[in-house]
Amino acid sequence: MTERTLVLVKPDGVARGLVGEVISRIERKGLKLAALELRTVPQALAEEHYAEHKERSFFGELLEFITSGPLVAIAVEGPRAIAAFRQLAGGTDPVEKATPGTLRGDFALETQYNLVHGSDSPESAERELKLWFPDL
Ligand code: TYD
Ligand code: MG
Repeated sequence: MTERTLVLVKPDGVARGLVGEVISRIERKGLKLAALELRTVPQALAEEHYAEHKERSFFGELLEFITSGPLVAIAVEGPRAIAAFRQLAGGTDPVEKATPGTLRGDFALETQYNLVHGSDSPESAERELKLWFPDL
């Protein structure tokens, strides 16, 4: 069954020149790009995107970081795209959880700067894709 998921190459990934690496891994896995945009995110979109975390202690820093510079938003599609990209990304903590061979395991050191976002469920993917790519 074909799914779509939202991937973000966060501002750290863009600043470090890792957009090509992320896209390359998505494509090598066999997933397709359905839409792609480079943009600096307004505060309101960042708050909506991360609404589930608004009571967490890291919420303020997370918003500051995600709006700090351009990011690349990608709608990715393919069979089991949601889980497949989470597998490519690795766990949230790039040292304690993500393993080598994953994007976070290979390229990140700190949870806050963990390079990529990927929707975590079909419900999240639908909600997030509507926010980021309303015309898709
Ligand atoms: P979360 O949705 O738990 O992780 P994931 O990106 O793997 O779905 O958290 C969203 C982002 O918030 C996470 O990618 C990095 C940041 N974050 C922190 O800065 N500190 C934390 O303790 C956690 C859990 C997340
Ligand atoms: Mg999440």
